Amino acid sequence: MLVTFILRPATIQDKKNLFFWRNHEAVRRFSLDSSAISWQTHGLWLEKILANPNQALLIAESGGGPVGVLRFDVEATQAWVSVYLVPEKIGQGYGAHLLLAGIQWMQDQRPEVQRLIAEIVSENSPSIRVFEKAGYRRNTELSTREVLRYEYDFP
Ligand SMILES: CC(C)(COP(=O)(O)OP(=O)(O)OC[C@H]1O[C@@H](n2cnc3c(N)ncnc32)[C@H](O)[C@@H]1OP(=O)(O)O)[C@@H](O)C(=O)NCCC(=O)NCCS
Repeated sequence: MLVTFILRPATIQDKKNLFFWRNHEAVRRFSLDSSAISWQTHGLWLEKILANPNQALLIAESGGGPVGVLRFDVEATQAWVSVYLVPEKIGQGYGAHLLLAGIQWMQDQRPEVQRLIAEIVSENSPSIRVFEKAGYRRNTELSTREVLRYEYDFP
């Protein structure tokens, strides 16, 4: 599949969409924190992220509109990644492409980052599959039965 999309930083204009997507059942199901978020909590969360230079909230867009969301939390030479697709885009194979675009983004924007880290609920088979497809490897030592740790090391 040929997939082209751009990754752009989220802005306060994305507040409504982000609220809707994050609270969608398909996105919450396997989240480490799967509780519903209130509009007020969401607003505070978004403002905090947008003001933090070590957090990047990125929206992937194709010609047909938004496809998914990536978040990176950078800590020195490591960054934690979280990803979800816009609910109606789930199940069409976009996830791995989004993660690959995220790897490229990090290399271009934050070349000091050497390792990307994901924590995945062990029952989240589609997520495990897409992280593996994008080149992340399981760190068995740091994985538990409930939460698997995946890492991508920049060459
Ligand atoms: C995880 C996510 C990004 C993957 O989306 P996607 O790219 O549309 O993934 P797909 O549904 O196409 O599935 C990816 C792969 O998993 C496989 N898969 C799907 N459901 C599966 C299941 N229940 N068991 C095993 N494999 C499964 C698919 O067959 C596909 O494999 P293939 O690429 O070899 O064909 C998307 O499901 C999502 O946004 N989920 C909600 C948020 C989330 O869980 N984020 C990750 C947190 S770590």
